[in-house]
Order: sequence, then C-alpha cells, then structure tokens
Amino acid sequence: MTGVTRRNQSNDIRHVLVTGASRGIGRAVAVRFAEAGDRVAVHYLARAADAEHTMQLLPGEGHTLIQGDLSSPEECRRVVEESERALGGLEIVVNNAAVATSPTLRHPVVGTDFATWADLWRLFTDINLLGAAHVSWAAAQSMVAAAVRGRIVNIGSRGAFRGELEHPAYAVTKAALHALGQSLAIALAPHGIAVTSIAPGFTATERVVERFGNQTPAGITADSPFGRIATPDEVAAAVLYLASPEAEWASGAILDINGASHLR
Ligand SMILES: NC(=O)c1ccc[n+]([C@@H]2O[C@H](COP(=O)([O-])OP(=O)(O)OC[C@H]3O[C@@H](n4cnc5c(N)ncnc54)[C@H](OP(=O)(O)O)[C@@H]3O)[C@@H](O)[C@H]2O)c1
Repeated sequence: MTGVTRRNQSNDIRHVLVTGASRGIGRAVAVRFAEAGDRVAVHYLARAADAEHTMQLLPGEGHTLIQGDLSSPEECRRVVEESERALGGLEIVVNNAAVATSPTLRHPVVGTDFATWADLWRLFTDINLLGAAHVSWAAAQSMVAAAVRGRIVNIGSRGAFRGELEHPAYAVTKAALHALGQSLAIALAPHGIAVTSIAPGFTATERVVERFGNQTPAGITADSPFGRIATPDEVAAAVLYLASPEAEWASGAILDINGASHLR
C-alpha cells in the first residue's frame, strides 16, 4: 500500500479534495497525496491556523485552502466547486471531515435528556452523513461531466460495526456512511468512478491525544493484539491505495484498518 511513487509529469497530477484536513487523519492524507505529486485542496471548518500548518507541510505546488461548514448542503456544493476551480480539476475526494466522539458530545441512551439526545443526533447526522452525501453528489457531477475515472474515499469507523455505548449517533452515521459508499459505488461504476470506505479503529490524532494524553489507556491499546492504536499515517496509506488507479476493483469495499482489534 505504501508503494505510491511520486509522479512528475503534469498530466499525471491528480487533483484531490480532502475534507477536514486541518489536523489528524485529514492532514496525514493531504500530506501523503502531496508527497505523491498530487495537488490538494485542504478543507477545514474553524481551525484556520492548523489548516495553514497543513498547507505548509505539503510539498509541491498548486495546493489550495478552503473553508466551509459541511453541515450546510449549499456549503458542501460550494466547497467542491471551489476546490475544482482552484485546483484545475477534481479526480479524488476524501470524505474525512466529521464530528467525532468526545466527552462533551456523549449521549448514552440512558442518562441523556431528550433535548440533548435530539440535538446531538441532528449534529452527527448533518455533518457525518449528510455532509459526506452532499459533497459526494457535487463530486459525482464534476467527475461525470469531466469524464474522469474518479475516486471517492469515505473515512468511516470501526464503531459502525462494534457499536458506541456513549456515542450511538456517531456509530450510526458511520454505518450509514459505509452504506452510502456502497450505493454510490454501484451508481458510479458505469462512469469509471470507484467509491470505497475505510473503517479505522482508535487512531492517535490530536483529538485522541487531547482526550487521553500521550499515554493511551491500557484498556484501549489492549483492543488490538499489537498492543497499540493506529497512527494517522497508517490510515492515510490505505486512502492512497484506495484512490489509486489499481484499486478500481476495490469499489464498494469497506476496509478495516484496526490492527485486528475487531474482526468481522
Ligand atoms: N481518530 C480516531 O481515533 C478515529 C477513529 C475512527 C474514525 N475516525 C474518523 O477519521 C476522521 C478524522 O478523525 P480525526 O480524529 O482526525 O478528527 P478531528 O481531529 O476531530 O478532525 C475533524 C476534522 O473535521 C472538520 N470538521 C468538523 N466539523 C465540521 C463541519 N461542520 N464542517 C466542516 N468540517 C468539519 C474539522 O475542522 P476544524 O478543525 O477546522 O474544526 C477537522 O478538520 C473522522 O471522520 C473520524 O470520524 C477517527
């Protein structure tokens, strides 16, 4: 999966939108594409300085920074259209942006009042599912119109299969994202576009480090027989593979990147 070589000829350069690339997995994905010689649109919501830092980490030229709130359908469309304009094309979209699990967004079914429950279901659904659906719609219009053999890669989650005791709406929106990818894989295959999802387990992003500190609790590292959690770059390597020309036959797949912590 790591055998993606740098491309030098300008007609080989791919144009890539990575949503939620201010930090974490999105940043690692953006860096990997740029290292492979591609042009990247680094999308973010609120962490402008972090997104600027991602830009500084990207080798090569022609990258662009784009802000947008993906809980708004019109913003999803604008982010895709502006990315395509700024990059000069669009062959790859990585639906990575999400509202993820955190102590402030807990909503266990027993112990959460109804107003909070309803608000959080709306929040997770608007961003994690509808945001990705609307970005995918706009990307599909662009790729079909340009007749490119495009790739859409969704960043889902192991939680879709294992359940999330304290964040059920997160788990459900990630399961729905996987299902969205499968439906779009069928719809877009006749256009030469492959759609896939990745289901990572715990990954050592800034968000996870903020939550647990540098010492991930033993109960979490013990999930994997490797005795650790993933690095963002391990997830990014899988994205690069699924976005590659040789991965067309993986279309419709949901790839577990979880260190054998959950087998299905
Ligand atoms: N880390 C893990 O353990 C893990 C495990 C399984 C799956 N995942 C998935 O991997 C992806 C990345 O995770 P991460 O830990 O790197 O997340 P993160 O650090 O929380 O980053 C989330 C990204 O999404 C953006 N975002 C949030 N709400 C948005 C909105 N309304 N509109 C547009 N962008 C928005 C954020 O932008 P700003 O920073 O600008 O606000 C940020 O760039 C997510 O899909 C997550 O569910 C992560």
